[in-house]
Amino acid sequence: MDGQEPPQFYTGLVAELYAPLRAAGVPDPEPYAAFITASGEPALELGCGQGDPLLALRARGLDVEGLDASADMLARLRLRAEADGVEVVVHHSTIEAMELRRHYQSIFLTRPTFNLLPDDDTAWHALERIRAHLEPGGTVRIALFAPERTERGALGTARPHITDDGAEMSVTPVSETRDVANRVQITTLRYELRTAEGDVRVEERPWLIHWYTQDGFRALAEEAGLRVSEVRAPDGSPAAPEATDVVVWLEPDPTWDQPRAARTGGGAVVAAAMLGLEQVVFGERPKVQVVAEAEADGLDHGDIDLDLDDPAQSRITLAAED
Ligand SMILES: C[S@@+](CC[C@H](N)C(=O)[O-])C[C@H]1O[C@@H](n2cnc3c(N)ncnc32)[C@H](O)[C@@H]1O
Repeated sequence: MDGQEPPQFYTGLVAELYAPLRAAGVPDPEPYAAFITASGEPALELGCGQGDPLLALRARGLDVEGLDASADMLARLRLRAEADGVEVVVHHSTIEAMELRRHYQSIFLTRPTFNLLPDDDTAWHALERIRAHLEPGGTVRIALFAPERTERGALGTARPHITDDGAEMSVTPVSETRDVANRVQITTLRYELRTAEGDVRVEERPWLIHWYTQDGFRALAEEAGLRVSEVRAPDGSPAAPEATDVVVWLEPDPTWDQPRAARTGGGAVVAAAMLGLEQVVFGERPKVQVVAEAEADGLDHGDIDLDLDDPAQSRITLAAED
């Protein structure tokens, strides 16, 4: 796991109750299998959680790996994989800081994972990392949506489930805030579990959804070196221009040159995708991260001049390896 603060929602009791209480049901693997077949292998699912649709895709023999920020979700995925006799490679990292050795032809996120990234700055970092892990001819498929407000009458109403062994569980939306200017809705969800033995556990968690207009998402992707090639409704029909519940396909922009895209929001100085640069000020980015990226991109980190007193003055000289 990278050194950044991981998102906390899908941990502990929520990871335990996620599968039996999920409102949207198990994602159909079919559209993802079709995507990988069309776009190519290897593939990577970001936010693979407990393994839907990743395990079904692996069971079909597709070369697809997973990545997730939650160790608890990945632990459940590994148990399922073992029980089903499916071999799978998964990485523990946030999307926005991922540094994997492999590059991929196909990268995808099921709904609502991209909308869990809390703001545009984090989303830009995620898109930049996605681009850095794509093969030159690769394709990205991202499902996006905008949440409805929870109806007043639904606040306080539990969605229950009883397991075969008599455990009672529920999730209840208890309050909600909506910030339209920043396209953020936070619903506080109460998860409850009463085991057959009568033990009770309760957790309240803020579930944050950050949404996009199609134009806003396109602009953010372009800043990260990705071009939107197609936008469709979830059923595959053409998407209306104002639709926010969409599936977006993206490709790397071959004309993108990285330095102008450095995004400084959130206080982080980003030496965004350093390929092509001779010298990079990496500022607040940890040296180890810059070096790992350089290596992953096949660059030799020749001169490193690390100024511990003033990290923004530090320099790293990169050259293509012979
Ligand atoms: C709604 S769940 C979907 C999981 C999976 N598709 C499934 O059905 O089992 C979203 C997943 O995204 C992960 N996630 C959220 N934010 C993330 C981030 N910034 N980086 C990596 N994973 C993240 C969560 O840990 C969670 O497992």
